Amino acid sequence: MNWHASILTLFPDMFPGPLGLSLAGRALRDGTWRVEATDIRGFATDRHRTVDDTPAGGGAGMVMRPDVLDAAIAGVMPAGDARPLIYLTPRGRLLDQAMVRGLAAGPGVVLLCGRYEGVDQRVIDARGMIEVSVGDYVLSGGETAALVLLDACVRLLPGVMGAADSAAEESHGADGLLEYPHYTRPAEWQGRTIPDVLLSGHHAEIARWRRAESERITKERRPDLWARHEAKPAGAGGMDGRPAAA
Ligand SMILES: C[S@@+](CC[C@H](N)C(=O)[O-])C[C@H]1O[C@@H](n2cnc3c(N)ncnc32)[C@H](O)[C@@H]1O
Repeated sequence: MNWHASILTLFPDMFPGPLGLSLAGRALRDGTWRVEATDIRGFATDRHRTVDDTPAGGGAGMVMRPDVLDAAIAGVMPAGDARPLIYLTPRGRLLDQAMVRGLAAGPGVVLLCGRYEGVDQRVIDARGMIEVSVGDYVLSGGETAALVLLDACVRLLPGVMGAADSAAEESHGADGLLEYPHYTRPAEWQGRTIPDVLLSGHHAEIARWRRAESERITKERRPDLWARHEAKPAGAGGMDGRPAAA
């Protein structure tokens, strides 16, 4: 069974978008994963195909209606569908690599992309949606957030990335550190050289240098990640980041 993503959106043409190219696009074509985007508007029941209404209590903007969204969810999630239902929202738990690993290891995802001021709280509660944010900023819609989440998951699916170990060593891996710097030819560029150790051919020395650089960069740039790394018992791998329902 391939990894299955269902997207609920007012802009289905935004999918697969950039995920139809490069590694994710090849994996899509070879059937490693599949995605279909469903237009929420198709579940509106009135003549004008209305999906939103004014906020209860007043205020600016519009809110997406729970009845229309519930019908749209029922339309893409048959009874017994084991995939997590995720609402992309700036109020959600921040997406991180542990959560991505958990999602990529599962059967797929159902992603609800909000627009306007967001979604009526009652359908979030009734459906036990998992609320996920891609960062502490506000996008105009959940579609670009959904593309971020999908890209991060799809590249971890078996066979998608070229080198078997390219996910093991990168930033936010099991040790929680950021990655060391990379260099390639030419050996000298604009008067800048490659660190000698990387040209030494001494694998143990290279591994030691890379580890030290990873630690230095993590400490400097992300004291929060460094503190978490330091607190982790030696040998602990990545946690199962499958997000819990709201
Ligand atoms: C303009 S935003 C609504 C923001 C909302 N009124 C608030 O202040 O939290 C419209 C939609 O974009 C999506 N969105 C915006 N920022 C996001 C983020 N950081 N992560 C995930 N989704 C986001 C959500 O689906 C949201 O419903």
